[in-house]
Amino acid sequence: MPHERTRVAIIGAGPSGLLLAWALRQSGIDSIVVENRSRDYVLGRIRAGVLEQGSVETLTRLGLGDRLAREGLVHDGIYLQWGGERQHIDFAELIGRTVTVYGQQEVVKDLMAAHDAAGSTVYYDSADVAVHGVETTSPRVTFTHEGEAHDITADFIVGADGFHGICRSAIPASELALYDRTYPYAWLGILADVAPSTDELIYALHEDGFAMHSMRSPHVSRLYLQVDPAEKIEAWSDERIWEALQVRLGVDGWNLTEGPITEKSITPMRSFVASRMDYKNLFLVGDAGHIVPPTGAKGLNSAITDVTLLAAGLIDHYAGDDTRLAGYGAASLGNQWRVQQFSQWMTELLHRDTTDLQSADFNYRSQRGRLDYVSRSAHAQRALAEQYTGLGF
Ligand code: FAD
Ligand code: DHB
Repeated sequence: MPHERTRVAIIGAGPSGLLLAWALRQSGIDSIVVENRSRDYVLGRIRAGVLEQGSVETLTRLGLGDRLAREGLVHDGIYLQWGGERQHIDFAELIGRTVTVYGQQEVVKDLMAAHDAAGSTVYYDSADVAVHGVETTSPRVTFTHEGEAHDITADFIVGADGFHGICRSAIPASELALYDRTYPYAWLGILADVAPSTDELIYALHEDGFAMHSMRSPHVSRLYLQVDPAEKIEAWSDERIWEALQVRLGVDGWNLTEGPITEKSITPMRSFVASRMDYKNLFLVGDAGHIVPPTGAKGLNSAITDVTLLAAGLIDHYAGDDTRLAGYGAASLGNQWRVQQFSQWMTELLHRDTTDLQSADFNYRSQRGRLDYVSRSAHAQRALAEQYTGLGF
């Protein structure tokens, strides 16, 4: 059985795991990444699309910014829409910050290319991944790869293995509280081979439910519809999807151009936070420790924040200073609760909740009142702009 030794064993080759391995490598700290899915599967997962300005700066600082600078679409703001009216919120004018539309898949592709060129060790298609002895100074990871059993001993184990991963459960239940809520709606997302009908993202509250128009490139549109979490994707023909998008996104004098749908799926929405991001020599980053509903575009960005904080802590540790590593959990959670309240606010601002019929109509009108307030108050717009583009504390 191959016995390997590394400083940091990372479980999961999503954006969190690959970025952490890359940040450590840039500072001369070796790591090994263990992923249970295939490389193609990881690359093919269509998820987030918006990078905060701080995330762009982080990727650029780590030497991952070339294609991002060429192909990323810099957006000065977003549109909010309700009651048939669309209002532009101009982040650049309000606070001098922007966001960049660049798919999570592209970030992962850039990371894979960087690791390939550098010769990093990433085991894809690993089976029976297990972590052992996280409370000791020599924790281990075991797994099977290409029929061979592997055993890695490390100084630290990092759970970058997403919400359904195994690392969070290596923390004793008595040491961990889980805070979560589910929402009575889900997102049906499509990719379509058609030029976006808008220059910046449109977030719309409609009586029939939320809709959003995003994009991936000048030729590919990404659109979302609020649906019931129990809906089956088979019930949504391409015609039905476009029809709903036309109704919910429609405003006078504007046209939504339709095109061939190349991907469609339904994603449930939940908020979830684990009460700790570290336990002895185990650290959690990204979705392994927390999930947000996607409305504020924060999932990928908070994963990047975690990685930035943890990489700094580990780099300091190997330079003889444990202050930042000891503060990682508190720093990550502090950021996360700011992110959670914003994601919850954006979600509840823009989705139609009809579960309680008695208050549904009241709530809808109150939501429109809130949007009307945001549209009139420069203070409210600045608060939105600051949080959407990333606080960068
Ligand atoms: P992940 O991307 O989940 O990566 C975890 C990795 O660990 C995966 O590759 C997984 O295969 C691997 N893994 C799991 N278990 C094991 C194991 N036992 N052993 C080894 N490897 C394991 N955020 C937004 O901001 N906007 C969006 O529109 C958006 N859409 C989303 C749609 C979906 C369907 C999902 C699930 C998430 C979405 N998110 C979105 C959230 C965003 O994509 C995540 O926050 C981001 O992927 C977090 O990165 P991560 O690396 O922490 O976790
Ligand atoms: C996208 C996803 C989001 O959750 C969001 O708030 C904005 C854009 C996207 O996939 O493009």
